[in-house]
Amino acid sequence: MELEEIKAILKKYGQEHLLNHYENLDDAHKKELLKEIKNIDFELMHSLYQKTEKAEEKNQKDEITPIEYLDKYKLNDQYKYYEAIGKKEIKAGKLAVVTMAGGQGTRLGHDGPKGTYDIGLDSHKSLFELLCDGIKAEAKKYDVTIPWFIMTSKQNNEETIEFFKKNKFFGYQKDKNIFFFNQGELPMMDTEGKILIGEDGLIKLAADGHGGTYEALVKNGMTDKMKEMGIEWVFIAGVDNCLIKMVDPVLMGIAEDKKVTVACKSIVKANPKEKVGVFCKKNGKPNVIEYTEITEEMANATDENGELLYGESHILSNLFNITAIERMGANPLPYHLAYKKATYMDKDGNIIEPDSPNAYKFEAFLFDAFGEVDEMAVLRVKREEEFAPVKNADSAGVDCPRTARKLYQEFYHLD
Ligand code: UD1
Repeated sequence: MELEEIKAILKKYGQEHLLNHYENLDDAHKKELLKEIKNIDFELMHSLYQKTEKAEEKNQKDEITPIEYLDKYKLNDQYKYYEAIGKKEIKAGKLAVVTMAGGQGTRLGHDGPKGTYDIGLDSHKSLFELLCDGIKAEAKKYDVTIPWFIMTSKQNNEETIEFFKKNKFFGYQKDKNIFFFNQGELPMMDTEGKILIGEDGLIKLAADGHGGTYEALVKNGMTDKMKEMGIEWVFIAGVDNCLIKMVDPVLMGIAEDKKVTVACKSIVKANPKEKVGVFCKKNGKPNVIEYTEITEEMANATDENGELLYGESHILSNLFNITAIERMGANPLPYHLAYKKATYMDKDGNIIEPDSPNAYKFEAFLFDAFGEVDEMAVLRVKREEEFAPVKNADSAGVDCPRTARKLYQEFYHLD
């Protein structure tokens, strides 16, 4: 596309300012900027901005109901039955795991990819190494290769790979067992609907949320690679839970037996205010209501036994059949809006570092695709065995390195 054509497109969408500093860029950056502009879906950005003006639309007619679940420790005889089915699948090498590691440790106050964070154990192992330890142990137990796919963002891809190189891939072989792929990005916008220019004169891009995982797996050829390896089931989880159990034969056995293509783990919500999404049914289909979006009334509602009606917490610990990933990757997900602080270049070329939020960021959530399936299985597991998230700095007092370290040490009987 010629420069003139690009100018015409920018004019149509009122984004001419994106070329304001074009002439000041070197040739490589000029080329990069044009490439970035060509990749922008201006129709999408325009419609996303219009939605910001209306605030997030909530469909009042949606019917939200509680979801059914199985309790892993109340399965009785069925436990062994499901476990046997799952073990057979795992031993046949049908499982791969995906870690969503596109996030930075901003809330943690960590400067770098979140997976590189050391939670302060005596071993000083990073989150990545703790996850890798778990995968290696399971691979050994079942005598198979469990390929590990790691999703990074453009911002942290290089640093993540360098970290793995420096640590010799934690003894898990690269190219055979470990694969990296990049998640998608979307431009950030100011409150006037103008796309921002970053400090480098290029488009200010931000990770498009982990809802992009499905599409990124398909687009980057990861699902094809998995199929070549004979993979049928893919466990997808976040990078920040140091007690994550990615290989669970009971969960897989349930999915196989119930013929569902998605099976998720839940834990009991600690209290109505805990910052976790909860499983539910929306218009009869599986869904998650995020903690930022649940009403107080719903968060507090209890059943006849006094248990929270919406108390099955989503811990980002979900198993998918590869067919479900392909189907979910084919349909666009809605974007949620976040209002953030973003350093940018103003029209005169000054770098502005705002003290308060100034820009819209658009993120898709992994669980918005759950409605694609009619049924999914939810398996309640124990918090102390499977959930030790590292989200905030110690000063927050919850979901922080101190609490995660304690849970980890207790589970592994370390001092
Ligand atoms: C998340 C879940 C919430 C769940 C809780 C459990 C969302 C929107 N909500 O909340 O339902 O109960 O975890 O701990 O996820 N990530 C990417 N790319 C992105 C954004 C995030 O890879 O663009 C990764 C992060 O690295 C992290 C995970 O996704 O591993 C979770 O993201 P985060 O933003 O920390 O979600 P929470 O608000 O903690």
